Amino acid sequence: MVDVLHIAITWIPTNGGLVNPAADVGKVARKYGVPYLLDACQAAGQMRIDVNELGCDFLSATGRKFLRGPRGTGFLYVREHWLETLEPPMIDHFGAPWVARDKYALRDDARRFETWENSYALRAGLGAALDYADAVGIDAIEARIAELSNHCRTLLDQHEDIRLRDIGAHQCGIVSFTVQGKDPAEIIAKMSKAGFVIGASQASSTRLDAERRNLPTVLRIAPHYYNTKDEIDQAVGKLISFL
Ligand SMILES: Cc1ncc(COP(=O)(O)O)c(C=O)c1O
Repeated sequence: MVDVLHIAITWIPTNGGLVNPAADVGKVARKYGVPYLLDACQAAGQMRIDVNELGCDFLSATGRKFLRGPRGTGFLYVREHWLETLEPPMIDHFGAPWVARDKYALRDDARRFETWENSYALRAGLGAALDYADAVGIDAIEARIAELSNHCRTLLDQHEDIRLRDIGAHQCGIVSFTVQGKDPAEIIAKMSKAGFVIGASQASSTRLDAERRNLPTVLRIAPHYYNTKDEIDQAVGKLISFL
């Protein structure tokens, strides 16, 4: 075991459509015994997460993105082997009971990361979002997102002033593109007025990728399973009408 090395990667970055080969990275991490942290914030709710298949030791996720849970929620997975090596950044008498006058003892389970007080409403909301995704079925969700996002890419790609900015052999439900000669903020505002929510990623959110690929602000359309093909057609049609 080499203790100074670790691997920390983002499974799905905030823009670029990319799904990194997280399980292949996990194989390397396992082979060399290197601790492996995977940011799964954009993957949770979009695709199946199996920490054993991924070979990761730590996995962090948020509730507010493709899981459709409340903002301010998320979760952390820690492989049991590593638990004793991690000191939570903040402790109170829940995660670390006060066991003697000058002594506290961290709990020996994952709840050492929890605090006495927390938002039960938000937690319940996250639980409901997880149940909801389970009821729809995560594999069906992934397949539907792939179908809609690929349809969206095909439509966008047909217009000469639109440039798709997605990369990678495996692409996800984040469709990234730029529009020649138009202010992205103006496009977002016009789309919003027309009833379509689209987003943008600036270099400050994705500095390494933005610099390497010399990206301007990138627009994103992110279909989810509840969208229809017709809605994608309408959204792209509306966007093109602004060019
Ligand atoms: C790849 C990635 N990781 C982490 C985050 C942070 O998510 P949150 O602010 O919900 O913790 C984001 C947010 O856009 C993200 O795109």
